[in-house]
Amino acid sequence: MNPLPEDFIIQLLEKNPVAEEFQKFHIRLNACEKGFACSCPFHSETGKSCIIYPETHNFYCPVCKNGGDVITFLMLMQNLSYPEAVQILAQRTQLTVPEQSPEEALQLQQRRERCYAINRDTANFYYCNLLKGPDKKGLTYFKQRQLSPQIIQKYGLGYAPDDWHQLQSYLNQKGYSDEELLLANVCRKSEKGNIYDNFRNRVIFPIVDMHRHVIGFGGRVLDDSKPKYLNTSDTPVFDKGRNLFSLHFAGQNSPSSLILAEGYMDVIALHQAGFENAVATLGTAITPQQARLIAQYTEEVIIAYDSDSAGQNATQKAIQHFHDVGLSARVLHIDENAKDPDEYIKKFGADRFRLLLHHAESVLDFQLNRCKNDLNLETENGKISYLHRIIRILAGIGNTQTQEVYITKKAGELGIRPEILKTEIQKFSRKQEKRESHSDFRNIENFSHARDAINPQASRNLYQSKSEELLLAAMMRLPEQGNYISSQLRPEDFVTDFHRKIYNILCAFLPECSWFIPSLLGAEFSAQEMGRITGIFIYYHDKLNEQAVLKCIENLQAGNQPPPDKNNMSNDEFSRLIANKKKNTRLIY
Ligand code: CTP
Ligand code: MN
Repeated sequence: MNPLPEDFIIQLLEKNPVAEEFQKFHIRLNACEKGFACSCPFHSETGKSCIIYPETHNFYCPVCKNGGDVITFLMLMQNLSYPEAVQILAQRTQLTVPEQSPEEALQLQQRRERCYAINRDTANFYYCNLLKGPDKKGLTYFKQRQLSPQIIQKYGLGYAPDDWHQLQSYLNQKGYSDEELLLANVCRKSEKGNIYDNFRNRVIFPIVDMHRHVIGFGGRVLDDSKPKYLNTSDTPVFDKGRNLFSLHFAGQNSPSSLILAEGYMDVIALHQAGFENAVATLGTAITPQQARLIAQYTEEVIIAYDSDSAGQNATQKAIQHFHDVGLSARVLHIDENAKDPDEYIKKFGADRFRLLLHHAESVLDFQLNRCKNDLNLETENGKISYLHRIIRILAGIGNTQTQEVYITKKAGELGIRPEILKTEIQKFSRKQEKRESHSDFRNIENFSHARDAINPQASRNLYQSKSEELLLAAMMRLPEQGNYISSQLRPEDFVTDFHRKIYNILCAFLPECSWFIPSLLGAEFSAQEMGRITGIFIYYHDKLNEQAVLKCIENLQAGNQPPPDKNNMSNDEFSRLIANKKKNTRLIY
């Protein structure tokens, strides 16, 4: 049972409507019969598979099977534990979490606090070592890269000594155990079991979150050795995909735009030149979560990636993520023999960079300009390929006026009549719609064939597993019927462990309640498991009747083996089968 009282959970859900939470993450909702539909934030799709059910405070995506309530949503979006998500929602709506969280939550919170403290002391150690340590290599390196003492201080840059144990001893003396140092990933363990400093002989870039906690580090070599950068692995306080370098500076005072650069040094050089609204990812390509994070602070991003082809491909991917979260984006065009913003500013200065920013091209222009890449426009084939690429992009323009303008422009450039181009675009759009509905369908198939980590026994026992699902749904939707079901079935009659666990909890829970929603199980199950439970709750809603329940009880009672061909049917086939047994069943519910 949820250790939190039912009243509290209901209040929390009512005060934090799940649909509003989706919108806070810039997910666009369309009203639909059941509530709202949207593109699922947990898998990539063009359709609108994810449905929000305001009445029962749920959402569910039948494709990737994620779902749950506003608590689950926040857990998934921000990588939080159940008590953490509850705490955030409670605080926001001035509710007090009644019985402060169980030991586990407390322990996690303590581990996080320890990591923050270790990181703060580590950052301080590297910073002091940079400025006052005997080895001046780090400081020399930063000077050579033209960083001012002020910017070194502002970012708390550091230098990790060329030594295997200096940081470890320093932190041990401060009272941190080796286990804690490993947890924070400032130290690592060799195969032989020796503990050693993670960063050695590297300049250090501390990574700081919006609450000014040091959450991790990037470390760069001083020469051309490899790997050039080393980053903290994921820890209880650090997730590379969900944070951005320098956002604590850049996100201040609602900036009208943010500059997204590729590297730490770019961001720092930009900041030093007066562009304090620059951020960078942490050694990985930008993720949808980071795009959403940016969207919380600004309306527009200017992508300032390296001018090489890797940078340009990364730009294309970033554009997609920004589009998905409704952020408008422009692309900076760095040329004139500078590879990245850092080099550009060194060579041409801040004023020229400001001009560059001013002239950053629209995403549309970026994409249209890219169409010419590696094509020979002198040849017929080259021209035709170019035309195809352009049609594909122009077809994607939502605004008809903009589309019209670009059609005229491109038709002129290609020497064809605008009407011809327009007809081709319309043809392409029609084909595209068909393709998309196909690919969303394939998506469903791919997901359903993936190994089922939540209920691994289901695929081998489909017939029973579906009977189990229908019975669980009946118990949840109509708790007053739970007693009948539990009088007929022992937990051992359940074939799959996952469903048996739910069954046991429901049996203990239901006699006391007259109304039920899956949220009441939130503390007992992981976010992924909650998705599955929500799926069961929603899918069988309109398929519950006396006959179906009796049939499913029969299917599970010991000794009833399923007929072989029935062990392989889809959910819908199963429901149809059960429904057809007796068309005119009286609804007991
Ligand atoms: N990066 C990484 N690991 C590497 C190389 C790069 O994590 N082995 C990440 C770092 O976050 C780095 C960013 O990718 O800041 C960009 O890489 P790159 O362009 O190679 O480095 P710069 O930031 O330009 O660094 P510098 O100017 O010091 O060479
Ligand atoms: Mn660089």
